[in-house]
Amino acid sequence: AAARGLRIGSCFAWGRPGADRGSFANPAYAALLRRDCGILVPENEMKWQAIRPSATRFDFTRLDAMIGWAEKVGLPVRGHNLLWHQPKWMPAWEEAHDFGANPSRAAHDLLVGHIDTVCKRYNARIRSYDVVNEAVNPADGTLYDTALSRALGSPQETLDLTFRAARAAAPNAQLVYNDYMSWEPGNATHRAGVLRLLEGFKARGVPVDALGVQSHIVTQGVDARVSVASLEGEWHRFLDAVTAMGYDLVITELDVRDNALPADIAVRDHAVADFTRGYLDVMLSYPSLRDILLWGMTDRYSWIEGFEPRKDKAARRPCPYDANFKAKPMRSAIAAAI
Ligand code: XIL
Repeated sequence: AAARGLRIGSCFAWGRPGADRGSFANPAYAALLRRDCGILVPENEMKWQAIRPSATRFDFTRLDAMIGWAEKVGLPVRGHNLLWHQPKWMPAWEEAHDFGANPSRAAHDLLVGHIDTVCKRYNARIRSYDVVNEAVNPADGTLYDTALSRALGSPQETLDLTFRAARAAAPNAQLVYNDYMSWEPGNATHRAGVLRLLEGFKARGVPVDALGVQSHIVTQGVDARVSVASLEGEWHRFLDAVTAMGYDLVITELDVRDNALPADIAVRDHAVADFTRGYLDVMLSYPSLRDILLWGMTDRYSWIEGFEPRKDKAARRPCPYDANFKAKPMRSAIAAAI
């Protein structure tokens, strides 16, 4: 990857020494990260819930430890995220917050204070942020409302302010809008909503550098392998439109769900590998794509098992390494694609 000017990376987590987690404090996972990764991202530890126990308090204990470790072993870290613009992903205290007599001022100060505090704490140590995460409702393509955006005035003002505050506080960082729209036909409304949002940012001069394509992708069965051809059409049109506006692309959270495949592990793993290869070939045809981050290196710690278990209860296998840290065909597929 380095030879081609690319970085492969992964999310990682906080954990006590010896904990069986996707943590830097887990020696087996730490070794895997150091061997295969050129960039890392904290899975949960920069989110408001993690660092913002209340309106008046920050807690950076875990995040500091993670970033400190990454620096010690020479791995750059991305920031995820400065605002997850959905009520269910903001801390409960924030959704219930009393913004007082001048709500737009109070909301402005809360949000800008958050971004300032985080960005200035890490300064040049973080060169890329998912500034806003998942603001578009895939059901109708509109922006979500949150307590913060109601207090501030509107979702659009909230997102614009978030990016402007991030640029001011981290002038040298890549600022990313991150979302999970995909090529699937059922995602047309989501894609259209994201395009409208990105067009609006351009029209209003909002400082956004790249679209984060999360890439929690789903195979469509063993006979419907992804090839460049099957991703042509809507997905290419979407990415062409995004890049034509001047946005770069980042793969921020790659993992692969095998929904329509039989339980046979070899069959599943090969289909997942083929699918990953086809997907990366399409994505890497866009020269601005330099960073490819997996949402976890091993099936052992992947969030997918809890998020969407397989109907037949067979363990999920969405990552390049299996639950015993053995490399799977998906790892070879990534290596072949780059
Ligand atoms: C997920 C984490 O992996 C889980 O541990 C947590 O419980 C919920 O969030 N899109 C994102 C990530 O932007 O932050 C999500 O991470 C996965 C989907």
